[in-house]
Amino acid sequence: MPRTFFIQKIGAQMSDIIKVDNLNFTYPETTTPILKNVSLTIRQNTFTTIIGENGSGKSTLAKILIGINQPDSGRVTVSGYELSDDNLKKIRCEVGIVFQNPDSQFVGATVKDDVAFGLENHLVPHDQMDSIIERVLKLVGMWEYRDRQPEALSGGQKQRVAIACAIAYDPEILILDEASSMLDPRGRTDLLKLISNLKTQTSMTILSVTHNLTEALASDYIYLLTEGQIKGSGQPTDLFTNRKLISENHLELPFILKLDQQLKEAGIPIEDQYFSEEQLIDYLWKLSLKM
Ligand SMILES: Nc1ncnc2c1ncn2[C@@H]1O[C@H](COP(=O)(O)OP(=O)(O)O)[C@@H](O)[C@H]1O
Ligand SMILES: [Mg+2]
Repeated sequence: MPRTFFIQKIGAQMSDIIKVDNLNFTYPETTTPILKNVSLTIRQNTFTTIIGENGSGKSTLAKILIGINQPDSGRVTVSGYELSDDNLKKIRCEVGIVFQNPDSQFVGATVKDDVAFGLENHLVPHDQMDSIIERVLKLVGMWEYRDRQPEALSGGQKQRVAIACAIAYDPEILILDEASSMLDPRGRTDLLKLISNLKTQTSMTILSVTHNLTEALASDYIYLLTEGQIKGSGQPTDLFTNRKLISENHLELPFILKLDQQLKEAGIPIEDQYFSEEQLIDYLWKLSLKM
């Protein structure tokens, strides 16, 4: 085998940080499978979103990735480790997870204590803790709140602290399960900005599972889960412009895309696909100056 091919192959394997092959899952209490032949690949240092209606199986899948749910069949590899009882500890060191409800994630009296608690759980030596706590709280923009009580923070601030706790022990992957669904619009926008900062400032891979399609706009790649099956995947530009897929799966397009579509239908000459309101407004402003 030529050497270059060998290097490329290894490179390709290393960059697939999560790999799910033909996964099937049924809860012990239910008879119908919740996940059916799910296969997906997530590349290292990307921001991937799994979208799907409530009840489509997103949280069930996230829990499989961290070994809370045991699949009926299929193969799951996370950070190079095949999911198994023997590898669970190693996998959990490589995955940080943040859930929907910011209030259910705190144990410490202060923000700093909370991050320290997570580090203790991962057996990080005490003499390294202060510098790690400072680094992660600065990364999520919460360093100045370090001595505050977590309960006194806003929802958006709580989720930023929860992210700091989840990434403090330096996992390769951060999973966000509907992490912004209880936030106000401002908290949601801030969280999305933080995700894109984390992607550029760290080598972390971010996997967000959400029913909110607007949140998926900024991701590199999207998987669509409907009734436990992957019904589509692609970059936001491809997936959100696939009208057949959108209507067949009863998806509500994000406001910006509906607006873009209606303007085009009204004959406004918009050649590009705009994914941000600022960019579309900027374009329309420039267009109006030319008219
Ligand atoms: N612990 C459980 N036992 C039995 N059924 C469950 C359990 N958790 C979730 N389900 C069912 O599995 C399906 C998928 O749920 P879930 O993964 O939470 O979906 P999503 O996160 O996409 O909203 C739903 O029908 C839900 O009722
Ligand atoms: Mg869920």
